[in-house]
Amino acid sequence: MDTGAFNGKRVLVVGGAGFVGSNLVRLLLSGSPEVEVVVVDNLLSSERENLPSDEARLELRVGSIADDAILGEIRDEFDTVFHLACFHGNQSSIHDPIADHDNNLLTTLKLFNHLSGFKRLERVVYSGAGCAAAKKTYDAASATTEEAPLSLDQDSPYSISKLVGEFYAVYFHKQHGLPVVRARFQNVYGPGEVLGAGQWRGTPHTVWRNVTPTFIYKALKGEVIPLHNAGASTRDFIFVEDICQGLIACALRGKPCEAYNIASGRESSIKELAEHIVSLTKSAGGFEVLPRRDWDTSGKRFGSPEKSRTELGFEAKVPLEEGLARTVAWMQDNLPRIEGCMAKHQAQLEALAGS
Ligand SMILES: NC(=O)c1ccc[n+]([C@@H]2O[C@H](COP(=O)([O-])OP(=O)(O)OC[C@H]3O[C@@H](n4cnc5c(N)ncnc54)[C@H](O)[C@@H]3O)[C@@H](O)[C@H]2O)c1
Repeated sequence: MDTGAFNGKRVLVVGGAGFVGSNLVRLLLSGSPEVEVVVVDNLLSSERENLPSDEARLELRVGSIADDAILGEIRDEFDTVFHLACFHGNQSSIHDPIADHDNNLLTTLKLFNHLSGFKRLERVVYSGAGCAAAKKTYDAASATTEEAPLSLDQDSPYSISKLVGEFYAVYFHKQHGLPVVRARFQNVYGPGEVLGAGQWRGTPHTVWRNVTPTFIYKALKGEVIPLHNAGASTRDFIFVEDICQGLIACALRGKPCEAYNIASGRESSIKELAEHIVSLTKSAGGFEVLPRRDWDTSGKRFGSPEKSRTELGFEAKVPLEEGLARTVAWMQDNLPRIEGCMAKHQAQLEALAGS
């Protein structure tokens, strides 16, 4: 990163115990010896252990950013705010749209409203979702640009909340001068994504989270990898280190109000992803071809990295094969911890299976 760029700065990371957040916190701490970081996280989809426990420059406040008592403790003493809290993920939000509202949208509204008028604040970086902005297609996809028209037709409350979060970013910038930059993530993968992290959120997807760690876990266990829609859907997979560099570039060089794709710009099919993982893990489990998931109409998509490259100087550096190899190695090394988190949800899973 821009070494030392956050020296002497106070940084707030909302949702900072999560997958991306904990990677970002570590990068901030390692890149700037004189940074101070405060994390607010209610540990809904993360574990306290994701963050270093013996770091004097880091303070973890456990609670929801939508809670007035927690929010009231956030004073005008931060230079940068990264807002990464969400209700994880699509299926859980379909199961419980109110919980999604409370943790994915109300969080954004209350945080932006609270920060408006702060004098010290240089940048707020909001984590938007490329999936909410992408055109829904099963034909050949073209790279989604930041200027592509946004659709009202969204697949999940999660997606709606991410998009409305961007509407609020624009509103609070225009009406109240909040210096908020919209970082639109593509599909992030990498070390630190713990299957089963956090609390039960109503469906087995609480355990399985995203496609990459799910496939790697099943491959490591020699289990069958499920290929919905024959694995024909495509995504723009971006390594978590690259996403964190993109977030930092948004904080340092992003123009308030603007959206930036933090994307690799490379389109890979789910089948290709599965094949890489099987080859890296030498799994004998094979694949199972399944029908398309009925809620998912997102099909093929990838993001254009052009604007981020020219305006932020950001480029994703880690190729998929290398990123997957590092993720497989991390999951192998952390299997007991991951399986401990997965086991927490076993009782709910068994109750679901029996009902
Ligand atoms: N991972 C991806 O592929 C991806 C893609 C697009 C966008 N994003 C966005 O990036 C952000 C980080 O994603 P992630 O993959 O690290 O998810 P994550 O679930 O690991 O992290 C989200 C964090 O927010 C916390 N949180 C939830 N409700 C909260 C609340 N009310 N107050 C405070 N904290 C709360 C969770 O406990 C968790 O630690 C999210 O906003 C997500 O929507 C992620």
